[in-house]
Amino acid sequence: MTTETESSQARTQKLEGLGTRRKRVEDVRFTQGKGNYIDDFKLPGMLFGDFVRSPYGHARVKSIDKKAAQALPGVKAVLTAEDLKPLKLHWMPTLAGDVQAVLADEKVLFQGQEVAFVVAEDRYVAADAVDLVEVEYEHLPALVDPNQSMAAAASVLRDDLQDKTSGAHGPRKHHNHIFTWEVGDAAGTSRAISDAQVVATESIVYQRVHPCPLETCGCVASMDKVNGHLTVWGTFQAPHAVRTVASLISGIPEHKIRIVSPDIGGGFGNKVGVYPGYICSIVASIVLGVPVKWVEDRMENLQATAFARDYNMRGEIAATQEGRITALRCHVLADHGAFDACADPTKYPAGFFSICTGSYDIPVAHVTVEGVYTNKAPGGVAYRCSFRVTEASYFIERMIDVLARKLGMDPAEVRRRNLIRKEQFPYQSALGWEYDSGDYLTALDKALNAVGYTALRDEQRHNREAFARGEARKLMGIGVSFFTEIVGAGPIKNCDILGLGMFDSCEIRVHPTGSVIARLGTISQGQGHATTFAQILASELGIPAEKITVEEGDTDTAPYGLGTYGSRSTPVAGAATAMAGRKIRAKAQMIAAHLLEVHDDDLEWDVDRFRVKGVPELSKTMTELAFAAYNNVPPGMEPGLEAVSYYDPPNMTYPFGAYVCVVDVDVDSGVTEIRRFYALDDCGTRINPMIIEGQVHGGLTEALAIALGQEMAYDESGNLTNASLLDFFLPTAVETPSWETDFTVTPSPHHPIGAKGVGESPNVGGVSALSNAVNDAFAHLGLTHTQMPHDHWRVWKTAQSLGLTIA
Ligand code: CDP
Repeated sequence: MTTETESSQARTQKLEGLGTRRKRVEDVRFTQGKGNYIDDFKLPGMLFGDFVRSPYGHARVKSIDKKAAQALPGVKAVLTAEDLKPLKLHWMPTLAGDVQAVLADEKVLFQGQEVAFVVAEDRYVAADAVDLVEVEYEHLPALVDPNQSMAAAASVLRDDLQDKTSGAHGPRKHHNHIFTWEVGDAAGTSRAISDAQVVATESIVYQRVHPCPLETCGCVASMDKVNGHLTVWGTFQAPHAVRTVASLISGIPEHKIRIVSPDIGGGFGNKVGVYPGYICSIVASIVLGVPVKWVEDRMENLQATAFARDYNMRGEIAATQEGRITALRCHVLADHGAFDACADPTKYPAGFFSICTGSYDIPVAHVTVEGVYTNKAPGGVAYRCSFRVTEASYFIERMIDVLARKLGMDPAEVRRRNLIRKEQFPYQSALGWEYDSGDYLTALDKALNAVGYTALRDEQRHNREAFARGEARKLMGIGVSFFTEIVGAGPIKNCDILGLGMFDSCEIRVHPTGSVIARLGTISQGQGHATTFAQILASELGIPAEKITVEEGDTDTAPYGLGTYGSRSTPVAGAATAMAGRKIRAKAQMIAAHLLEVHDDDLEWDVDRFRVKGVPELSKTMTELAFAAYNNVPPGMEPGLEAVSYYDPPNMTYPFGAYVCVVDVDVDSGVTEIRRFYALDDCGTRINPMIIEGQVHGGLTEALAIALGQEMAYDESGNLTNASLLDFFLPTAVETPSWETDFTVTPSPHHPIGAKGVGESPNVGGVSALSNAVNDAFAHLGLTHTQMPHDHWRVWKTAQSLGLTIA
């Protein structure tokens, strides 16, 4: 190794660029209580808003008497739909092309729906006043089952749409129907299924769950009536989109609206949409001329803000006797709740569910999704998954296991026989996606070897024999999942939200002293963007990451972008960051050539400097070039060192992974113990391995929550029976096992640094691996599929139904 190489290595290390386990710079603030969350905001004269919410799942609002509430000292206003009507703000557009009542307009359609907005001096007076608002309801029967919603005699839920025969996504075939979305080859799939040697069918429900971010949703709206400026600080995952929507709804010019997302305590899709609380706070601030804060409590967040999943899937998978899949068909009944407020790109009302052929080379497939209204809260968001990808992945990964049972084959072997081969990439899926890159067999083999899969299956055989002899009361289950994610929406030609193309952006300013500020159109909610995006730039610019500040979330300073959800930050804004960095470097090269009196082409890049080819001692560092950019640029060149990139990705990125989970199920208590969970992720180029591991740990913990316990359970009247965290499962360190992480690296060919997203992957792969493991524990007893969540009670009931429990 030459001295020159060593010094290059030392300089590379100093940058803390790509691939470094750089500690999170955010945590210096967070661990010292210096975070700045919405409820920390205290502005002079600020009032507090609180909602009167419906106790019923379905009811007619006969009257609202607000006199007693208005008379309470400290109460400044009580708003109802009648007050919003003159402003035409009693209904608002949703992200899915539907409309949603801001405050109940004659009817309530889900328990917890916003009926009136009380504004008072503080949170406590507001809460007292909420109790004093008298609402007379006429209780109506609720529809909580989407199948019942679609019955011919079902009552009309949405009076406002009763006569509309088509909606934002085409024809409606019933008064509670929203859309039918279809993709694939219907006739070809039917033929392949009819001709198949083996067909496995199953009904698979992915239950309704809630993202449950640590911080609930909220905002502070402040209208400066003198200057006509509106500022809203809020828990927004897409601040620029909120600004555009706020302008369209309010008529306030967009340049006079400033939306700021300060620190956000977890988003998980819950903070993408627009909620009535935002609109009511803005209206109240405009009316009262002072700032108005609205912050949900925990139960409101659980009951009324966006849910996830609620997909009822019917699958058919056809194969040869040897286990080669020949076709896949899926029909989904999607429960969207009272208003269609799903957060999906416009052309995809079922999100990217058509990724449901998964990681397998399936020649023909057909999918239909029917969206349906029920008396439940609206939502349908990308909770730790790109739009509906976890539903798709769960569906195919359960179907593969169901098929394996039918064939009498090992589930890992069925996967191996059908995985898309490395040489098939870029791979065109039967449902229209072009997978960018993958090396699936290598990943599967690495995972199976790492856990000693063959030995585990031997152990399981012995366990089953011991159980049959009555010598064991726990059944061992092994769950394998292999997933392909699809993250990084755009491209613009395919993906928009409310007409806004899904690109993203980065603007960089390099100051004379070589320090840098980079502003992005995304917004971190705990993912560590300030740490990792600085690492991308450190490698691109040759400037140490510690000299690079990353700022997001303020529409007055950040370039326009579509925000952070569905793991789109790295694939889109991360790419914009690298591209903007390259523009800076290109300009710096011209300045270096000028200073060194050589042609641009005679220079080569060396970690943090340009040097003259063949004369390494002649060089200019980026720090020197930054200063020169402000006093000695080539003739005709503008001074300064700044760049901006608006990046429209050519394709999504397709991260993938192989997970294996081993559980021991106690048939007497129904308790599932996770003995081992191994997660191999491939997210292309790894920016910060430590942050990736943290993302995987978090996503797996949320997968555990969903697979083993979470469900928003409604009774037949539309009451949410587990509306608090006493009843709704949120795992703590006690329930969470030690996660084993591993990786392979298959760069994305179209991303400037080869990176794919990772944040959502562990949830997408994790839920299937856990559910497959629990189902596998009972598989030898003739059971092919049990529904999630696999909580203790349900698992015990399964054991009981199989006659395994003590009588
Ligand atoms: O959009 P979101 O930030 O939720 O998801 P992401 O793009 O998957 O990124 C999550 C975090 O992991 C960010 O801090 C990324 O920079 C980091 N990451 C990484 O270090 N390497 C990758 N290949 C992908 C993400």
